[in-house]
Amino acid sequence: MQTQLTKGIHWVGVIDWNLRDFHGYAVRGGSTYNAYLVLDEKTALIDTVKAPFGSELLDKVRAHVPLDRVDYVVCNHAELDHAGALPQVMAACPNATLVCDAKCKDELALHFDISGWRVQVVDCGGAISLGRRTLQFVTTPMVHWPESMVTYIPEDRLLFSMDAFGQHLATTARFDDEVPLDAILEEARRYFANILMPFGRPINRAIDALAALPLDIVAPSHGVIWRKNFAAIVAAYRAWTECRPAPRVLVVYDSMWKSTEAMARAIVEGAGIKGVEAKLLHLRQNAMAEIVNDLLDAPCVALGSPVQNNMVMPQVGALMTYLRGLKPTRKAGFFFGSYGWSRNAAADEVAKFFEAVKFDVVREPLLNQFVPKAECLEACREAGRALAEEALRRAKAADPAN
Ligand SMILES: Cc1cc2nc3c(=O)[nH]c(=O)nc-3n(C[C@H](O)[C@H](O)[C@H](O)COP(=O)(O)O)c2cc1C
Ligand SMILES: [Fe+2]
Ligand SMILES: [Fe+2]
Repeated sequence: MQTQLTKGIHWVGVIDWNLRDFHGYAVRGGSTYNAYLVLDEKTALIDTVKAPFGSELLDKVRAHVPLDRVDYVVCNHAELDHAGALPQVMAACPNATLVCDAKCKDELALHFDISGWRVQVVDCGGAISLGRRTLQFVTTPMVHWPESMVTYIPEDRLLFSMDAFGQHLATTARFDDEVPLDAILEEARRYFANILMPFGRPINRAIDALAALPLDIVAPSHGVIWRKNFAAIVAAYRAWTECRPAPRVLVVYDSMWKSTEAMARAIVEGAGIKGVEAKLLHLRQNAMAEIVNDLLDAPCVALGSPVQNNMVMPQVGALMTYLRGLKPTRKAGFFFGSYGWSRNAAADEVAKFFEAVKFDVVREPLLNQFVPKAECLEACREAGRALAEEALRRAKAADPAN
């Protein structure tokens, strides 16, 4: 496995092959926690790994340099997938100074006992010389947490970009030219949708700030390192941060006895017009992370639930909670569902959700008492067709070619 980014800079991270659940986000095939070692007159370790992998990280560092020769440990992000092994690393590297921004120091103190650590707080624009190389720090608040920061080495035109541009991709390949670009972008997109979607504005600000830097290598904290196709991931991020619409419609639903499901099938059938990809997504047959990934560029959504105990079904509630947090933008849709005796119970709940997430509601709810008959199903098909036309309009209006 090739682990050298450039002369004197090495990947010393770990591959978490068995990761399938990243705090609720269903990961398809593992991930990596990337840490990097910069060997110069002084030695710097950039970020660490999840706590259980601390020994593996230290072994990899030791293969390059004795641990008492580590002078700096840079913490770009206090989240535990990157900072979890810090206590072990700081204990094992007696001469190391921890380098982080002020917010990061505060947050680390709320995670660990840092009283015995030497800490050097750096500001945005601050720098540390390693001898022939310089570490420059650019704070990027809310990409992904308040303390988030990136580290730049101008001499190598190399950026350690932290969570930004990362992917949950477990592979022995370390670089973007060793894996098909589509496969990387697919995972980067899933990661963006599930982790970074709420932070579109700070991400765009960070990309603007980084655009001024000459960049040959961009090394994120998860997945493969960008040395060939960085422009592709930046272009993709620009589209994702604005939820740029594609001609897609999602019909997302749950159902107990298949009445709502019959309505959903009729809606998706109607939505399958020329030029539109229409997708039916049962909430208990598809991971929430996949649904959100599909939603990123789907401008139109029909959301369905029967009434269960005067409420929507639990997974529908869970999706609404997840989306209130992720704040997808530029969406339109409507609600549909079957009920027994409390006609508006689910519809009212979803109306509040649509308002909270600022979805454009394109029609009144499609509601049916118990099992839908032909007339109801025809209305569903018609509603699906209209929703697909709306998706086409939105995609055309957003197409940069227009
Ligand atoms: C466990 C359970 C709870 C229900 N609670 C309600 C309710 O509170 N109000 C209501 O209008 N209907 C209620 N119903 C009736 C369903 O909404 C009705 O059967 C509907 O047609 C189910 O749609 P589905 O086939 O998509 O699951 C309940 C049904 C079940 C099985
Ligand atoms: Fe993070
Ligand atoms: Fe992370």
